[in-house]
Amino acid sequence: MTSELGRRIARRIALTGPISVADFMAEALGHPTLGYYRRTMPLGTAGDFTTAPEVSQMFGELVGAWLAERWQAMGRPAPVRLVELGPGRGALMADALRATRGVPGFHAALDLHLVDINEPLRAAQQAALAAYRPSWHERLDTVPAGPTLLVANEFFDALPVRQFERTKHGWNERMVGLAPDGETLVFALAPGPSPFAHLLPATTRDADPAPGTVAEVSPAVIAVAAQIGARVVKEGGWALIVDYGRDRSGPGPTLQAVRRHRGVDPLDRPGETDLTAHVDFALLAQAARDAGARVFGPVGQGDFLRRLGIEHRAAILRKRATDAQKADIDAALARLIAPDQMGTLFRVLAVGDDRCPAPAGFSDET
Ligand SMILES: C[S@@+](CC[C@H](N)C(=O)[O-])C[C@H]1O[C@@H](n2cnc3c(N)ncnc32)[C@H](O)[C@@H]1O
Repeated sequence: MTSELGRRIARRIALTGPISVADFMAEALGHPTLGYYRRTMPLGTAGDFTTAPEVSQMFGELVGAWLAERWQAMGRPAPVRLVELGPGRGALMADALRATRGVPGFHAALDLHLVDINEPLRAAQQAALAAYRPSWHERLDTVPAGPTLLVANEFFDALPVRQFERTKHGWNERMVGLAPDGETLVFALAPGPSPFAHLLPATTRDADPAPGTVAEVSPAVIAVAAQIGARVVKEGGWALIVDYGRDRSGPGPTLQAVRRHRGVDPLDRPGETDLTAHVDFALLAQAARDAGARVFGPVGQGDFLRRLGIEHRAAILRKRATDAQKADIDAALARLIAPDQMGTLFRVLAVGDDRCPAPAGFSDET
């Protein structure tokens, strides 16, 4: 049994032909009424996945300290647009703001903008952040101009990717079509090389990999990264981007689907399944640089949080904790920074304007 959205997508394909993987993802996640990110409350143990700010308050607290330090480095502009892309239940921002209450002038200068398309999550954000009177946006480009501090945790992995498969003729686009039963969604290859393959990074596109090799690119990631780069250059500001992904572009499909914390077929029950792809940080960084910005990282989340003092913060929290709470703090710390958990797979990238030295947490420039 597929989903209502699955039936609608099948009808569309029957009428107008196969659609790209990116179009499928955009529909499955963003359909105005049936898309996954429009209708479900995906986070937490009852949802489909758990994120770093949901693991521990320490994550948001340290991000808050980073943002406040960047605000001071910018010369304490007031107002400053504090923007979060995809704030989930608002945990990161609530922890960040609680931790920075004591920074003189910071809260008085803040103008909070949340970019999210998910109504149930917007309601949770309202509950968590009402005191800061946030404004909501569907897209970054409606956030008013002005000096900006931006944070995005696990936002870019939700943006659609196009997929291409190497054939003896070139790179053909992987599409979503219909099985002979006329209902079941299946992956199918477009018949000829795709003009959109020029979007692939040159190192992948111009290599001559074995037939059957799959490569991905997200035009949406490039577009948002370019927008962030242009914004921090024009208005002044900083962006902190955290996500799972790879530092270097290369072939390999990473599209994945998760429902109730378990991997499932990406074409199964669209609208009820979370779809993500690993973020290509090299392409993201290049897009920001092409817009004139300076990029730091990516560094591993573990290294970043350690440099910001997470172990010290955990030690402080432990002092006031019961034995059970101490065990929770230790488990959360390990989850966030251990190389075999989130510490290495998750990458952290900072985007700033061209005049700035390296921010905290980043040892070198890429
Ligand atoms: C994986 S959740 C991460 C939530 C939060 N940042 C956290 O770490 O807990 C992705 C977030 O991005 C939002 N989102 C997904 N696609 C979006 C889009 N195209 N435009 C705006 N927000 C989007 C979701 O509603 C959700 O809040």
